[in-house]
Amino acid sequence: MEIAGDMKALKVDRLSDIRKLFQKNVVPSYARFDLALDHGGGSYVWDVAGRRYLDLGGGIAVCALGHANPEITDALLEQSRKLLHVSNLYFTKPQAQLAEALVRLIGPGRCFFCNSGAEANEGLYKLARKFGHEEGRYEVITTDGSFHGRTLAGIAATGQEKVKKGFEPMVAGFRQVPFNDLDAMRAAITPQTAAILVEAIQGESGITPATTDYLLGLRELCDEKKMLLLLDEVQSGHFRTGCFQSWQRILENIPAAEEFSPDAVSMAKSLGGGFPIGAFWVREQYADLLSPGTHATTFGGTPLGCAVALKVLEIIERDQLAEHARELGGFMKGELERLIRKFPSVLKEVRGFGLMIGLEFRNDAPGFSGAEKTPALQVVDRLHEAGVLTVPAATSVVRLLPALNLTRPDAMEGLRAIEAVVAELAA
Ligand SMILES: Cc1ncc(COP(=O)(O)O)c(C=O)c1O
Repeated sequence: MEIAGDMKALKVDRLSDIRKLFQKNVVPSYARFDLALDHGGGSYVWDVAGRRYLDLGGGIAVCALGHANPEITDALLEQSRKLLHVSNLYFTKPQAQLAEALVRLIGPGRCFFCNSGAEANEGLYKLARKFGHEEGRYEVITTDGSFHGRTLAGIAATGQEKVKKGFEPMVAGFRQVPFNDLDAMRAAITPQTAAILVEAIQGESGITPATTDYLLGLRELCDEKKMLLLLDEVQSGHFRTGCFQSWQRILENIPAAEEFSPDAVSMAKSLGGGFPIGAFWVREQYADLLSPGTHATTFGGTPLGCAVALKVLEIIERDQLAEHARELGGFMKGELERLIRKFPSVLKEVRGFGLMIGLEFRNDAPGFSGAEKTPALQVVDRLHEAGVLTVPAATSVVRLLPALNLTRPDAMEGLRAIEAVVAELAA
C-alpha cells in the first residue's frame, strides 16, 4: 500500500475536487459553504482559486491575531523544537506561566487546561456535580438560546432544541429558563440545583448580552442559595469585547459590581489564536473540588498549546489590542447603527461589545427570497460574493467576530460591502 504517494497524486486543486473528497470521506455533520480556503494573511484568506476574502468571522471568534501571524508561527516553531507534548504526569513551564497569567487576568483561583469549549464546559459541569454531591445536588440551570458545545452534556446544557433533536434522552440534570429573566431563574431553582451556567454574551443565538442587573442578580441568587455561578466565555472572552472576559466589560464602571466574581469560567476559541486550547478557571475557594484523579485529559495544557496562548496574550497586551477592539468595534457598531437608520426595511438591530457584533436583519426585508435559506444565510452568501466572510447566527443575525488586530481600513472595506448588500436587499 502506497498511501503517501497516492495522496500526492490525488487531484485536489479545485473546489470541485475537494468537495468530492469531502462528500466521499468526511462525516456530513457540517453544512459547509461552497468555498475551499487555502491560505491566509492578516485579516484576509484566499480560496484555492486565488480569490481573496476579508475575514470578519475570524474562524468563529478564534483567530484573535488574524491568519498566518508570523509571531505565532515563530512561537509554534520555537516550542516545537523544544517540547511538543509531555503528559500531565509532569510539570511544565508554559502551563505554569499560562495559568499564572489567566489567574492575574481573572482573579484568585486556579486553571485546568483542555482542548475545546465543550470540554471546558464539561469541567464546569463536573465542578458543579462535585460541589453539590454530598447534599444530592447535581442540577445545572442554563438559559434558552444558550450554546455550550456538542458533547452529550453540552447539548443537554444548550438551550436550543435543534442541537438536542435525535440525541434523546438528554443527560440528566440540565434545565433551561429564559435568558435575562431573573425571576424565571429564581423560580426554577430546586433543592437539587447546584449551579447556574450562562454566557455573559450569548453568541450562537445572535449576540445577546446579559444585562448588568441580570449578572449581579445571578450572583446574589447563587450566594443566597449556595450555588455556583458558572460563566461560559468561550466565544465572548479573551479581550474580544475590550476586557479580558465579557462580564468584565458588561460590569465595568458599575460600583455595585466591584466585588463581582463568577465561581468558574470556561474559555477556548481565541485563547490559542487558532491553536486548539481550552481552559477553565475556578475561584480559589472551590479550587480543590477536582482533586487528584477526578479530572484529566491527555492533551490538556501541552507545552505547545500553552506557549502559543502565552504569545497571543503577550501580543494583545503589547499592541493594546483590547483597547483597539473596543474602539474599532465601537466605530463599526456606530456605522451599522447608521445603516439601520438608512435602511429600516432591511435592518432591525445591532448588538454586542467591541469586536463581537451581531447585526439583525428583518425577515421580511424586500430582497429576501423564499424560505429555502434563512435570511442570515442569504446575507452571508451575498457577502461571500462581495469577498467578505461573516458568520450566521439564528435565522436572521450575521455575526462579526474578526481578528482583534483588524485595521480600520479593512473594517471600512467590510462595512462598505455590508452596506452594498443591505442596499441590494432594500431594493
Ligand atoms: C459559548 C460557547 N460555548 C461553548 C462552545 C463550544 O466550543 P467548542 O466548539 O470549542 O467545543 C461554543 C462554540 O461555538 C460557544 O460559542
